[in-house]
Amino acid sequence: MTRIFDALKKAEAAREAATPAGGPVTPLHASPSHAPARPAMPRPVGDHGPLPLLGSVEMTDETMREMAALRVSLESAMRDRNPRVIMFLSPQGGEGTSTVTLQFAQALARDPGVRPVLVDVNVRRPTYDLDSSVRGAIISANVAPRGAEPPAVSSNLFVVPCPEDVRRTGLYQPSTLRQVLDASVTGFDWVLLDGPPVLESPDASALGALADGVVLVVQAGRTKRPVLTRAADLLRKAGARVMGSVLNRRVLEIPEFIYRRI
Ligand SMILES: Nc1ncnc2c1ncn2[C@@H]1O[C@H](COP(=O)(O)OP(=O)(O)OP(=O)(O)O)[C@@H](O)[C@H]1O
Ligand SMILES: [Mg+2]
Repeated sequence: MTRIFDALKKAEAAREAATPAGGPVTPLHASPSHAPARPAMPRPVGDHGPLPLLGSVEMTDETMREMAALRVSLESAMRDRNPRVIMFLSPQGGEGTSTVTLQFAQALARDPGVRPVLVDVNVRRPTYDLDSSVRGAIISANVAPRGAEPPAVSSNLFVVPCPEDVRRTGLYQPSTLRQVLDASVTGFDWVLLDGPPVLESPDASALGALADGVVLVVQAGRTKRPVLTRAADLLRKAGARVMGSVLNRRVLEIPEFIYRRI
C-alpha cells in the first residue's frame, strides 16, 4: 500500500469522525468553541464529488503576500457571502488561470479556519486528473510538471474535477455547472472555479455569470489592454461581476529583497 493511500485513509477516518454530514456552514472566522465542520465528503456528481488534492504548486513569499492581499480585497468586496463563489478566468489561453487559482486556494488552505474547494471548469484543458488508485485529484502535467516523488496529500484542499461526461461534450453548460455546485460545495466557504479562456471558449462568459465575482488573470508583458477590455466587456454583457485582475508572472525590475525595503 502506498504512503499516499495510507495518508488518505487516515485523513478520511479523521474526517468521518469529525463531520456531521451536511452540517451547518460556520462563519469564516469561527472561534475555537465553534470549530468549523469539515466539508461534507464525496457526494456523487456526474462521476464523483470533491476529492482530496494530491500535490501543490510552488509558493514563494512574494506569492503568499500577493494572495493574502487578494483575499483581503475579495473579502471586503463580498462581506455578506458564504460561500464566496469566485471564478478565475483569463482573456487568452495559457496566461496562468489554473496556477493562480491553485496558488490562491493553497494560501487559503493554510488557514485552518477556512475551507476552500477548487472546481475545474475548463473542459478542453482540465487542470485536474482523477487518480482512482489513491482516490484523489492530481494536478495535470501541463500545469505542474510532476517530480519523481509521489505528490503529498494536501489535508485542507479539495477538488471537484471536470465530470467525464462533461469533458466528452467539450462544453460546460451553465445549468450543468449549477447542478455540480449545488451537489458538491456544501460545507465549503470559498468555491474557486478554474475557468477556460474567455476569448477562446464559447461557454466562459455564461459560466462566469454564475459566480459571485470574476477575477481576470492576465500574463504580464503578453496581454494587451484592448484584449483585456474585450474580455471584461464580454463578461459584463453576460451578467458577470468582474472584480478586478491579477497580473501573473510579473517580473521585478530590481531584486525582491530590495523591492521589499522600498
Ligand atoms: N506565476 C507562474 N510562475 C511560473 N510558471 C507559471 C506561472 N503561471 C503559469 N505558469 C506556467 O505556465 C503554464 C500555463 O499556466 P496555466 O496552466 O496556469 O495557464 P492557464 O491560463 O490555466 O492555461 P489554459 O488556457 O490551458 O487553462 C504552465 O506550465 C504553468 O506552470
Ligand atoms: Mg487552465
